[in-house]
Order: sequence, then structure tokens, then C-alpha cells
Amino acid sequence: METPFVFGKLANEHNFTDRKEETKQLIENFNSLANTILISPRRWGKSSLVQKVSREAEAIKKDLRFCFLDVYNVKTEEQFYQHLAAEVLKISATKMENLLEYAGKFMGRFLPKLSFSPDYQNDISLSLDWKEVKKQPDDILNMAEKLASEKGWKIIICIDEFQNISTFEDPLAFQKKLRSHWQKHQNVAYCLYGSKRHMLLDVFTNPSMPFYKFGNLMFLEKIKRDDWISFICQRFDETKKQIDKKSAGLIADLTECHPYYVQQLAQQSWLRSVKKCSRDIVIEAHQGIINQLSMFFQMKTDELANSQINFLKAIIDGVEQLSSKETLRNYDIGTSANVLKVRKALENKEIIDVVGAKISVLDPMYKNWLVNNYFQKNKQF
Ligand SMILES: Nc1ncnc2c1ncn2[C@@H]1O[C@H](COP(=O)(O)OP(=O)(O)OP(=O)(O)O)[C@@H](O)[C@H]1O
Ligand SMILES: [Mg+2]
Repeated sequence: METPFVFGKLANEHNFTDRKEETKQLIENFNSLANTILISPRRWGKSSLVQKVSREAEAIKKDLRFCFLDVYNVKTEEQFYQHLAAEVLKISATKMENLLEYAGKFMGRFLPKLSFSPDYQNDISLSLDWKEVKKQPDDILNMAEKLASEKGWKIIICIDEFQNISTFEDPLAFQKKLRSHWQKHQNVAYCLYGSKRHMLLDVFTNPSMPFYKFGNLMFLEKIKRDDWISFICQRFDETKKQIDKKSAGLIADLTECHPYYVQQLAQQSWLRSVKKCSRDIVIEAHQGIINQLSMFFQMKTDELANSQINFLKAIIDGVEQLSSKETLRNYDIGTSANVLKVRKALENKEIIDVVGAKISVLDPMYKNWLVNNYFQKNKQF
């Protein structure tokens, strides 16, 4: 039997829970062609949410089209243009002949050579002189707008892992190019999302940056404990197994409501339950996941400097005055200037999240492993 929980894949349909407020907000943004910037730590459900809302929005509004780009593996500006052009072309036509026609029409003076996979919608490869495009990217950056006005469509371009553009050669110049074109678009809106809160906040809220006030900022929260409890109970029920509310609550608590881990722990608990899931089964499944991840956690910790590990220990101990002399001494973190450096490094590695004065370890399983394995064994901590 198929398990009723998914992780590592986008959550959809039965596997998707809650997010009612965010869904409403996103649909409003899409319908009014307002740009959206969606930020949350990794694995909290950004991609699942945008995909799911896009399907709903398309079903309601027939002239709406979505175009998805994941720039996780995109390393250069040239690759970005290539990707963008291919994705916009893909939605332009359902027939190969039209696709060729549109390629000529919308890509202006760059006469592209196209090659297709057999089901040409899934894989289009465009050969162009990308260096030339980089010099004058107007046609490519305005392609979606041209297509939308020609077809009478509204297009939403969704760009996942948007933080990646900061690794391009000259990110600022690139952002200027994007912004100067995109802000003129009347029939296209952008939904940009990613996980590096600080980098993204800098791009979108710093007055000296090109994307300042580009759109509505949304911070995706975790899904609430009560929602998880009803979701878990319902999924067990639908597959003729049972779990009581307390054990479902324990799944949410042990994973701190982290969407990916809730699904993983729920799945492991479900697999271990012949008919009825109990507290003991959940605890055993939780330990199983930590054991499975322990090698990875060990490697991740080996890559950290001592001061970074000590800083994590201080956070986990609930220390609030991280720069006080006492903390620096007790936890051997170095100087107070060092605290800032350590904090930044851990944030960049997406190990901690800093929201105002609150600092938290992002991965609840890693935190648990540090407390019960690593810090236990390394008693100097
Ligand atoms: N609304 C939801 N309902 C149920 N489970 C969810 C939901 N959203 C996310 N999840 C769970 O969390 C996992 C991660 O979701 P998703 O890939 O959408 O997150 P993400 O924020 O895009 O992650 P990343 O930053 O790594 O790209 C999914 O595989 C699923 O198990
Ligand atoms: Mg994602």
C-alpha cells in the first residue's frame, strides 16, 4: 500500500494541509498581478505552496498562466536567460510548429536553434549566442510580456531558489537589468522565493538595491500543531490505521512542526504500526530517523569551527546574552566581535535562523542529535 505521507517531494492534493491564509493571499497577488516575495527556511513548504496555489488560480481564472523556473543549479547570467527563454516558450504553444513560430517572434533578433525532447514540452534546448544575449537581454527579459499581450494572457513567472542569483558574477548589475525590464510589465507578475532570509531581505528591503519594494513580502510560517494533528489522524484513518490525538501531537512536538520532518516521522510511525500507532512507536520511529541521519550530522558538525559548535551549544542551552563576558568565557566563543562572525557563518550555512533577537537551530533532528549524542559524548561541553 502506498504510504499516506510524503517528504522530499512536493506536497499536493491529499498530502497538502492547511496554508489557507497563505493560499488566499497568494491567489489575490496572482489575480491582481502583484509581485510576491516568499521566504522561509528550507523544507517548510514554499515550493509545494506555490505549485498548489498556481493550479487553483489557473482553474479559477482561465487567462492566467504560470511559468516555473528553478534556479538552484543555475550558475551564470547566461544560463538564467537560457532557462527563462525555454520556460516561457514551453507555455507559449502546444504544437511544435507554433513553438518554432513563437521562438522566432519573441526572441527577436536572436534567431534561435531549437532542439526538443520527444515530448518537446518537457525539454527544450535553445542554442543562441548567450554572450550576445547577456549584452542586450531585452528581448529575452520581455518575452513573457510580449507573449502575454499577444495571447491576452496574464503570466506569473515563479522563480524558485531566487537567492542563487547572488552567486552570479555581478549580481547587482544583473538585478538592475531584471528590475528595469520587469517593472514595465503590464501583463506579467513575478513570484520570487527562496530560503536565505538575510540575503533575500537585503535584496528586497534595502533602499539602495534595485529590487527595493518590488513586491509583497511573505514569510511562510510552519504549519500549526493542531492542523498537523488533524492531518495525521485523518491520513491514518483514510488508510485504515489509527493514531490517537496525543501520539499525533507527539509527532508534531518531536519535529517542532517542521513540515518535512512531520511527514517523515508520520510516515515512519505509520510503517511501524500494524493497526494502531502508539506513543512508543512514535518515539522508536523518531530515534530511527536520528540514527539514520547521525552520520550526516557528524559530518556537518566536523565542518564547523569550535567556536561555531560552542555557539550552538549556548543557543540550545537557552542563553540569551550571547555577547556577554560570562557567555564568551563559559562557552569559549572568543571575543564579542567573533560572536557576530560566528552567527553570520551559521546563518549562511542555514543552520540557525535569526529573527530579531531570537535565534533558533533550524533542524529539529540535528538539535536533538547535538543534545543527546554529540554534547553527551563530548563532555567538555
Ligand atoms: N502544506 C503542506 N502540507 C503537508 N506537508 C507539507 C506542506 N508543505 C510542505 N510539506 C512537507 O514539507 C516538505 C518540503 O516542502 P517543499 O519542498 O515545498 O519546501 P521548500 O520550502 O520549497 O523547501 P526548499 O527550501 O528545500 O526548496 C514536503 O516534501 C512535504 O513533506
Ligand atoms: Mg523548494
